[in-house]
Amino acid sequence: MTLVRFISADGSKIREVEAEPGERLLWLAQAADQPLEGTCEGQMACSTCHVIVDAADFARLPSPSEEEEDLLDFAASVTRHSRLACQIWIEEGWETLTVRMPGSVRNMQGR
Ligand code: FES
Repeated sequence: MTLVRFISADGSKIREVEAEPGERLLWLAQAADQPLEGTCEGQMACSTCHVIVDAADFARLPSPSEEEEDLLDFAASVTRHSRLACQIWIEEGWETLTVRMPGSVRNMQGR
């Protein structure tokens, strides 16, 4: 089991959820009321599921595909630890995974 920690863009709010291997980060985030629109529902066609991954966790993730990297070029507030939440599946043996919401959210959700 993995403890997934979502941090709000300004760092003021932390939400933790438990996840099983194979669960998709985007769905976990949405179930935890995180402001990730995921407009294309994981088809890798929108970049509205952009998250910033904790540096240590980032190093552990499988490398992004070229398509994911191309899409990230269009996301707002991209950092070198940016990933698309719809392209991250929890893996066996991960104790924790910490991600932060990007600074400026392009899709205003009023949250
Ligand atoms: Fe659209 Fe991830 S949900 S790219």
